[in-house]
Amino acid sequence: MTSNTNIPGCTALVTGATGDLGRGIVDALRLQGADRIYVTGRDETALAALCEVHPEKLEAVHLDVTLREGLPELAEKYEEVDVLINCAGVCRQTRLMQPEGAEAAVQQMEVNCFGLLSICRAFAPILAGNGGGAIVNFLSLGALVSHPVAGSYCVSKAAAHSVTQSLRGELFPDGTRVIGVYPAAVESRIGRMMPGPRDSVQTVVQATLEALAAGTTWVFPGEAARFRDQVSRDPEALERELAHQLPESLVD
Ligand SMILES: NC(=O)c1ccc[n+]([C@@H]2O[C@H](COP(=O)([O-])OP(=O)(O)OC[C@H]3O[C@@H](n4cnc5c(N)ncnc54)[C@H](OP(=O)(O)O)[C@@H]3O)[C@@H](O)[C@H]2O)c1
Repeated sequence: MTSNTNIPGCTALVTGATGDLGRGIVDALRLQGADRIYVTGRDETALAALCEVHPEKLEAVHLDVTLREGLPELAEKYEEVDVLINCAGVCRQTRLMQPEGAEAAVQQMEVNCFGLLSICRAFAPILAGNGGGAIVNFLSLGALVSHPVAGSYCVSKAAAHSVTQSLRGELFPDGTRVIGVYPAAVESRIGRMMPGPRDSVQTVVQATLEALAAGTTWVFPGEAARFRDQVSRDPEALERELAHQLPESLVD
């Protein structure tokens, strides 16, 4: 019942649209012929700046994904949306055993997991009413194999991965396709906190929109594709490799 999505003519709502990947997604959607794009976030000045260049296609919507109670009412105002792209996210490069590790995990769960869940729940009936459409969730390779330099972030992305899988099943009868994107490090604000090589924003955006158009549901852009096999073949070896990226004093 799920299918590929036509980007030309779609109406998209993008969370975290003022971020590096969010801006890349908005630009690419516009260039590929999306009819209307609601660009959402918390920073009204940044949203206005983003929209002023293409007011015929872009409209700013103030949206904090953690303000859960108001989200269903907000979604009702955007009843023509058929593609929801969730780029909103926070990353604190905090290990779980640091003094602030538990508090950081809770904060990131609020945005990356429960915020994501709330926005998906709010828009699912709208998408269903528009024939199904698609939800795209920006997760992380850290959802599948924890990177100990940011253990508190990985907790939230692993939970968001589970949300994505559950919704994929639950929304299947509505014809809504639920896509998870699992980037490695990206040349963006969050990605620059992680060690190792980085993919360009353009690489990740292109792979994501190709998946949206093709009907793929798991997306491993750029460097992440290299890790995908290793994650399923030998996760322990990968964990050991990542543990050795910690400062020496933290590793046995
Ligand atoms: N960059 C990477 O290497 C990488 C790798 C894997 C996955 N990802 C994921 O990809 C997504 C985008 O990452 P990015 O690198 O583009 O990050 P970014 O530049 O920091 O953008 C994050 C966006 O999320 C918004 N946001 C934060 N808290 C919010 C809230 N409570 N409600 C609504 N919006 C909120 C930010 O807006 P404000 O200005 O209002 O804070 C910003 O627009 C994230 O989910 C991230 O976890 C990134």
